[in-house]
Amino acid sequence: MAIELAPLPLPASADASKFANFGREVIGLNPGKLTPEQLKEVQEALYKYDALLFRNVVVTPEDQYALTKSFDPSSESYGHGNNKTQSTKASILHPDLKTIPRVPQVQLIGNGTVYNHEGLAEAKLKHPSHITFHKTRIPPEEELKATRYYRWHIDAALYDLNPPKVTTLYGLTVPKGESQICRYDDGTGDELEVPLGTTAFVSGRTMFEMLSDEYKSLAVRSKVRYAPHPYVWMAPARAMSTGLGIESEGKELTLDELPSWEESKIKVFPMTWKNPVTGNLHFQVHPCGVKELYIDPLPQGTNRKGTLYPNGAHITDLKQVRELLYEMQRPAISPSLVYPHDWKENDFVLFHNRGLLHTVVGAFTPDQVRAFHQCNLAASDEPTGPSAEDIQKYA
Ligand SMILES: [Fe+2]
Repeated sequence: MAIELAPLPLPASADASKFANFGREVIGLNPGKLTPEQLKEVQEALYKYDALLFRNVVVTPEDQYALTKSFDPSSESYGHGNNKTQSTKASILHPDLKTIPRVPQVQLIGNGTVYNHEGLAEAKLKHPSHITFHKTRIPPEEELKATRYYRWHIDAALYDLNPPKVTTLYGLTVPKGESQICRYDDGTGDELEVPLGTTAFVSGRTMFEMLSDEYKSLAVRSKVRYAPHPYVWMAPARAMSTGLGIESEGKELTLDELPSWEESKIKVFPMTWKNPVTGNLHFQVHPCGVKELYIDPLPQGTNRKGTLYPNGAHITDLKQVRELLYEMQRPAISPSLVYPHDWKENDFVLFHNRGLLHTVVGAFTPDQVRAFHQCNLAASDEPTGPSAEDIQKYA
């Protein structure tokens, strides 16, 4: 029997035509209790729609881990390495994660203090705020009315470990409160009304498909080189007001200020990743961690007018790298292309981490308690780039 799917409830701000292939609610199933046949269908639907929502479900950390692992059976450790993030004090991810002792691949994230939770006597959680990460901030007096996208990202260590295939997010305690206005503050006047503490998603497929022909050609010919220990490297730097990358102010650590690193563990990934089920290309770049770009020359015999870097290039100027990526990625985070999930308690979201970007949004007061379980696993393989046919088609 086929699983029942329904479109996600889109906000009025969303351009529904752009979400025809993005996001589905799976009706009447518990993601922790799927039969092998249902699991197969859920897996296929996940790659087809990139984000699946299960409502009103009770899911144990063990079941959440098992479902996450089913997408990549030989993966085992948390996407950033078990407990590694917490021991690396210099990493900007350090304060955001608490591990469930029984199932260390599942993290407790949220806001406020949680007691007697899955073997944790007391966990002090802090919802990440743009105030400590962005270069500019919303004035304190407007801080609870207005907010920002914290950091658009792929869940990935971007060094040594491979980006997880999927992430699962389970909302256990969801504070109620007024919606907030997410400001872009980038001179465009863009803003988006968002539910309190939303997780915002944009499609990497849409991000690719809306590029100009020139940028599509560049995208299928390019590889991104990430910094070693990118979250340590970027720690002193500050982000742009849209949360879509870092301001180029020369604040990143130098390579010899970083913890020891090896060239062989540096990640170089294609700019577009091929969906294993649909074959579509998704523009998948974590803008904050990028250091350099490698661009291949046009394939032999291709001669298109206005092609960017027809002879290829290796761009090492960080400002130039970031400006180019921002030009390519910014259109896809326009308000009408963002899906801000309106969390209800016992919502379980499974998303294609290699097919979209997402971000934390919103500002809570310290007494607003939010508790979520998050799981993703460092993958057993690297993402697949465009095929020879894709390159032929788009280059
Ligand atoms: Fe994330």
